[in-house]
Amino acid sequence: MPKPTPVEELLIPPQDNRICGVICLCQLTAVLSSVALVYLSVAVYMPSLRAFNSGVGETPVMCTTTRAVNRESCDWGTCGEWCLSKSSGACIQIHVSLRRNGSSLLFPNCSHTANKTCYGIDQENAKKSRCIADECKNLTGTFNCTMGTCINITDAFKCEFTETDPPLKCSGRRGKITCIEMDGLQNCHRGMCERIRTPYNCDRRCVDIPTRNKNTILLSGDKVYLSRCQRAVVNETEVEVWNSRQDNILMASCHTITNTSRGVEATDCINGTLLDKSALTDLTNFTYLSHLSVWNPVPLDESRQVAPPEQDLVIANDSKLLINLEGCVNTLRDECREFLRDYGKDGTDHNARARFPCFYADWNTDMVVARFDLNATYREFLVASLLPSVLFIVSCLTLLLCQRTVEVGDDAKMRFKCCGATIAAISKDGSLSALDTGGGTDPMAL
Ligand SMILES: *[C@@H]1O[C@H](CO)[C@@H](O)[C@H](O)[C@H]1NC(C)=O
Ligand SMILES: *[C@@H]1O[C@H](CO)[C@@H](O)[C@H](O)[C@H]1NC(C)=O
Ligand SMILES: *[C@@H]1O[C@H](CO)[C@@H](O)[C@H](O)[C@H]1NC(C)=O
Ligand SMILES: *[C@@H]1O[C@H](CO)[C@@H](O)[C@H](O)[C@H]1NC(C)=O
Ligand SMILES: *[C@@H]1O[C@H](CO)[C@@H](O)[C@H](O)[C@H]1NC(C)=O
Ligand SMILES: *[C@@H]1O[C@H](CO)[C@@H](O)[C@H](O)[C@H]1NC(C)=O
Ligand SMILES: *[C@@H]1O[C@H](CO)[C@@H](O)[C@H](O)[C@H]1NC(C)=O
Ligand SMILES: *[C@@H]1O[C@H](CO)[C@@H](O)[C@H](O)[C@H]1NC(C)=O
Ligand SMILES: *[C@@H]1O[C@H](CO)[C@@H](O)[C@H](O)[C@H]1NC(C)=O
Ligand SMILES: *[C@@H]1O[C@H](CO)[C@@H](O)[C@H](O)[C@H]1NC(C)=O
Ligand SMILES: *[C@@H]1O[C@H](CO)[C@@H](O)[C@H](O)[C@H]1NC(C)=O
Ligand SMILES: *[C@@H]1O[C@H](CO)[C@@H](O)[C@H](O)[C@H]1NC(C)=O
Repeated sequence: MPKPTPVEELLIPPQDNRICGVICLCQLTAVLSSVALVYLSVAVYMPSLRAFNSGVGETPVMCTTTRAVNRESCDWGTCGEWCLSKSSGACIQIHVSLRRNGSSLLFPNCSHTANKTCYGIDQENAKKSRCIADECKNLTGTFNCTMGTCINITDAFKCEFTETDPPLKCSGRRGKITCIEMDGLQNCHRGMCERIRTPYNCDRRCVDIPTRNKNTILLSGDKVYLSRCQRAVVNETEVEVWNSRQDNILMASCHTITNTSRGVEATDCINGTLLDKSALTDLTNFTYLSHLSVWNPVPLDESRQVAPPEQDLVIANDSKLLINLEGCVNTLRDECREFLRDYGKDGTDHNARARFPCFYADWNTDMVVARFDLNATYREFLVASLLPSVLFIVSCLTLLLCQRTVEVGDDAKMRFKCCGATIAAISKDGSLSALDTGGGTDPMAL
């Protein structure tokens, strides 16, 4: 029997890990940075260029949310998650009214300061009574129920109504079954609930606001600040607009109110009015104060320059609000939900409307953006374009250099060829340990 010829062993010599590593790393970097360039051109470059060309001003003005609409299908949305996929599903559209800033006022030397927050119902944090868990058997007062889950609104609202449905008995053994689908506004007394029929009128019941000895009343969203001040001046110019010798009450609606060392500072004050002292007694309620601030005919400033009526400042009545120029965010941190909750307050839940600084372009007041920062956009643009390009160029150059300097020897081993010499190995401390000019005298091959 002929001896089987031995299979020739293919000898692949061990390669220099450093050369392989460098080539591998450079290829990886080149591929990744070119992918990054393609991705960033959609995610950063195009939006940045649009921002630079948008004509949106860098100084914000004020916006007030007028309505927030839930749409099933929409051509635009205020805030979308993940810009790369234009979602066509449901979205929320927020409309705002756009106006110039009101006045900054300073009230030096105030005393007897009090403030009161008049929240309606915080739908998310309110204590909920679930009828299925038999929590409805003792309900007393006015409740807002959705599918058997009821929120106590007795303290926050005073509801006027005329007609009700026949009562349901939520107490007793069958109570939780009876009330499992309770819906709408309910007027309850120890577990007997009757549905309030529309039309009803629910007013915010923020009562017992102490107005005794106060001559300055500032409304800010759901808050009321009351104080006894000596005078009111315009913040920047210190021109006096009112002083306590006039013996009347100053009222205005401002955006922020802060107590500083100079006195109480209020920004963006509008609807400034003067009330007669007799208009208020020792205690008042929020509904009445809001009513006075809107319907009182005596302006704070006859010339309508300081804290003017809101309608004097309006730029546009009904603009679309976008979170930024794209109308979407890429953070994947549920940012939109928070944004829509804060900016979507349009007053339908009887709380104050959202009021916030916003940016707009002179040529198009139909659209405003809540976030706009050209300097940050510019920085982002620089980083996002320089970093991947530099990485790409460096890795390509290194690969080119490798192509020129690495050669595969007769023994299938890669070596650096440098200035006509082949560097066989570089020892750990960096000095050349074997340098040959002809090649082929590698100690491994001997
Ligand atoms: C308007 O008010 C906002 C917020 O208070 C402020 O950032 C902005 O600079 C003001 N704009 C002008 C034109 O004064
Ligand atoms: C506050 O009023 C008192 C007297 O009413 C006066 O002495 C004081 O200088 C005032 N302070 C400021 C900052 O105006
Ligand atoms: C409002 O009142 C609360 C307590 O009643 C107080 O802690 C808070 O500092 C007040 N805010 C201002 C701006 O005066
Ligand atoms: C429910 O009402 C009854 C009296 O009608 C009272 O004894 C009981 O303590 C109440 N339960 C709760 C949880 O308030
Ligand atoms: C609802 O609020 C009213 C007023 O504070 C209170 O009397 C009533 O007990 C509350 N009901 C429940 C179920 O918490
Ligand atoms: C009010 O004016 C002072 C100095 O004139 C300034 O430092 C401060 O920022 C101003 N405040 C507001 C809210 O504009
Ligand atoms: C506001 O500041 C003044 C002095 O800076 C202080 O006397 C006063 O108590 C403060 N008011 C409030 C409500 O914090
Ligand atoms: C608020 O005050 C006005 C006038 O003082 C009064 O007519 C009205 O009934 C009050 N509203 C509530 C809810 O107390
Ligand atoms: C200012 O007054 C007008 C009516 O004069 C009213 O429509 C508007 O809601 C008021 N604005 C605020 C912030 O109260
Ligand atoms: C805003 O709306 C009111 C009434 O709808 C109108 O009279 C006013 O001219 C509008 N203002 C602007 C700037 O469009
Ligand atoms: C009752 O709850 C619904 C849904 O949660 C809300 O839309 C409505 O404004 C509430 N009504 C009142 C009077 O708070
Ligand atoms: C942007 O930067 C420029 C100068 O670099 C500066 O003058 C300007 O105030 C900055 N704008 C904002 C909104 O920070």
